[in-house]
Amino acid sequence: MIALEETIEVSRPVEHCFRYISDFRTTLEWDPTVLEADKTTDGSIDVGTRFALRCKAGPVTVSLEYVIEELTPFHCIVLSGKGRFFDVRDIITLEDMGRGVTRITYIAQFSYRFGLEHLARQQTAGLKKMGRASVQGLARALADDNPTPTASRDTAKRDEHLPGALSCFTRFGYRRGRSRWAPMSTDMTGKHVVLTGANSGLGAAAAVSLLEAGATLTVVIRNPANTDAMQAHFTRTAGRPADFVELADLSLLSDVNELSDRLLAEDRPIDVLINNAGALFNDFAVTSEGIEQSVALLLLSPWRMTERLLPLLEHHDSPARVINVVSGGMYTQRLDCDHLIMPEGTYNGAIAYARAKRALTVLTELWAEEWQTKRVVVNSMHPGWADTPGVQSALPGFRRITQTVLRSSEEGADTIVWLARAREAADISGKLFLDREPRTTHLRKSTKEPPGARANLLPWLRATYAALSIEGNS
Ligand SMILES: NC(=O)c1ccc[n+]([C@@H]2O[C@H](COP(=O)([O-])OP(=O)(O)OC[C@H]3O[C@@H](n4cnc5c(N)ncnc54)[C@H](OP(=O)(O)O)[C@@H]3O)[C@@H](O)[C@H]2O)c1
Repeated sequence: MIALEETIEVSRPVEHCFRYISDFRTTLEWDPTVLEADKTTDGSIDVGTRFALRCKAGPVTVSLEYVIEELTPFHCIVLSGKGRFFDVRDIITLEDMGRGVTRITYIAQFSYRFGLEHLARQQTAGLKKMGRASVQGLARALADDNPTPTASRDTAKRDEHLPGALSCFTRFGYRRGRSRWAPMSTDMTGKHVVLTGANSGLGAAAAVSLLEAGATLTVVIRNPANTDAMQAHFTRTAGRPADFVELADLSLLSDVNELSDRLLAEDRPIDVLINNAGALFNDFAVTSEGIEQSVALLLLSPWRMTERLLPLLEHHDSPARVINVVSGGMYTQRLDCDHLIMPEGTYNGAIAYARAKRALTVLTELWAEEWQTKRVVVNSMHPGWADTPGVQSALPGFRRITQTVLRSSEEGADTIVWLARAREAADISGKLFLDREPRTTHLRKSTKEPPGARANLLPWLRATYAALSIEGNS
């Protein structure tokens, strides 16, 4: 057997270190030899949780199946890994040194098969160097001091031309983006997140990640019949259900008002509000409150809910975050309040959708300017093209053509989770993100709004809301 031992001290509470390390998927963020790391068992991280890792070992790649053997909260994590040529036992001990400092001792014991131990002994120096690099990577990840996000040179260049920008929407764009990401070790325990549209697609994927990260989660869904299946899914995958479930049809502003009233009455401060619920309506329809449904659901609803919930977002030590889920489709449209509501005769679902998402992107920028003195940051994100139930039902033709390049829901939702969780994502406001990088909001000059259109948006929202046939509006 060959044993390696390294010790580091990090300025993070022992609970944060314990939670971060015991989810061994994080090895992808801190161990330079790890190429892929997946959790292969459902539920919360516990004794028996398994992980599949693919690692570089010199010129070859090896697969390792890890299982957690011991988990003594905040003190010790023991994992055993099995590979074709060797087994490894990782013993990680954590010690609370006081003043928020944790000492981590990492022991890795390698047992080789096929008489390879002799060969490995000759490589001990290299093995030790590798072990040190991994543990130093862990120290860097736990430092959680990533710089304020900026667009990489590669991204900025791709955004100069439509084909380059569109290539980023695919799963290949996601993979390219991922190769540049910094670790995300921020702990969400005690953070209250409100997430709309959590029972499907991107919302469901984001909910699972936020629950895994320890957040207190309020989900907003519209159909009570979906509650049990949604909560069973969260419990199976993340190990626990959402903490609170709220029901609201978000295309109805009366429902938005009632939901906001309930949340305000509960008086539970909100750290993150995620306006994710949405749909592309191919057929024209007007809600019972008398407005075309795309503009109601995709624009009026997040505007009204966010403004109503500001008192719950405002009083925090660290800035609260609002995340607006928009769409790459908005790159095709420019803001023009006179044409946000499409009449039946000229209605086109994709255009109505794109106009509403463009307006929500501009609203994000306006809010960021207006809230400069508040402790609330607001950003929009678009997920690229993700294979969700929403895309499957609204865009079957598009899906057929693009199926091989579509992202998974988890890949599409990643930037939602990053904006909600990463410490450095609170350093920036009023930007549009894709794959954890701020992106241009225009790919063509023709979509830049005419002077005055931005200034019209908030008055237009107030006037349009006031004209709805709902209680309280006369
Ligand atoms: N997937 C993509 O490629 C893509 C691309 C760009 C933008 N987006 C945006 O990403 C967000 C999530 O979409 P998705 O692809 O994950 O679609 P999805 O699977 O259809 O999920 C949409 C969610 O929104 C909810 N929702 C729809 N109408 C609602 C209403 N009136 N009241 C309350 N909730 C409502 C849905 O609830 P029900 O299940 O009850 O309908 C569902 O939970 C949307 O804002 C969408 O515009 C997605």
